Amino acid sequence: MANELAALCKELRLGDLRKLAAQVRFQNETQYLTDVLKLVAINRDTQRVERLIRQAKFPVVKTFDRYKFHPITWPKGFDKEQLMSLDFIESKQNILCLGAVGTGKTLMATALGVKACSLGKKVRFYRVADLAAELTEKHRSGDLVKMLKQLQKLDLLILDEVGYIPCDKLASQLLFNVISNSYEQQSVIVTSNLQFGRWNEMFGDDRLTVALIDRLVHRAHILSFSGPSLRYEEAMLAEQTINE
Ligand SMILES: Nc1ncnc2c1ncn2[C@@H]1O[C@H](COP(=O)(O)OP(=O)(O)OP(=O)(O)O)[C@@H](O)[C@H]1O
Ligand SMILES: [Mg+2]
Repeated sequence: MANELAALCKELRLGDLRKLAAQVRFQNETQYLTDVLKLVAINRDTQRVERLIRQAKFPVVKTFDRYKFHPITWPKGFDKEQLMSLDFIESKQNILCLGAVGTGKTLMATALGVKACSLGKKVRFYRVADLAAELTEKHRSGDLVKMLKQLQKLDLLILDEVGYIPCDKLASQLLFNVISNSYEQQSVIVTSNLQFGRWNEMFGDDRLTVALIDRLVHRAHILSFSGPSLRYEEAMLAEQTINE
């Protein structure tokens, strides 16, 4: 009997129904079934969000808990509330986090991505160098089209650390392809500590760099991060706490 129940729960994707049902007090049939099914629905949502977060492949899952917004200069007509509403994903706009080292660009991109997952959005986080390597690999193995299709299914693509490591010609072209495909189709969050004027150092081709920046910047909100590294500040605080 228990096996049959487990098999039915699996088939109907009800989760561990016995465990959920044990949390509900019986008053009458309708109330009991409604409350158990409510728990099934909540459980399903939680699992979906967990799956989306796993699939996004964040290096570390982080949230806005204790996030300091003071390093950010906001562009005209766009503020913290608008950013946090994630409306930019709905309207397929981009967020560019540019500026100083250790000021929370990657943390911002991650926390926005996690929040998007919690709203049921499909997200994928890449360090740009890793994406370039994967695209090159798929190009060689003949699986590039499949990978590009998968990327196009995303609601939000996060490209971290643009400009840190130079790309070869093929990788630059493949990255350009990804950005081109995303244009007005999906949102992209980019982090970089290089000014646009120096992005050609990464992509090695002035024309391609200009075309790539043009696509990214159109319909984008550019957040400038400045000030001393909070990474350093945090490490100093941790050291102080240990020494106390
Ligand atoms: N604005 C912030 N609020 C809270 N903590 C921060 C902030 N900025 C940085 N930190 C702390 O420093 C760490 C590094 O931040 P993060 O990786 O986001 O910096 P970054 O701007 O991406 O730097 P880089 O240009 O070197 O990639 C964070 O994990 C966090 O512990
Ligand atoms: Mg970073």
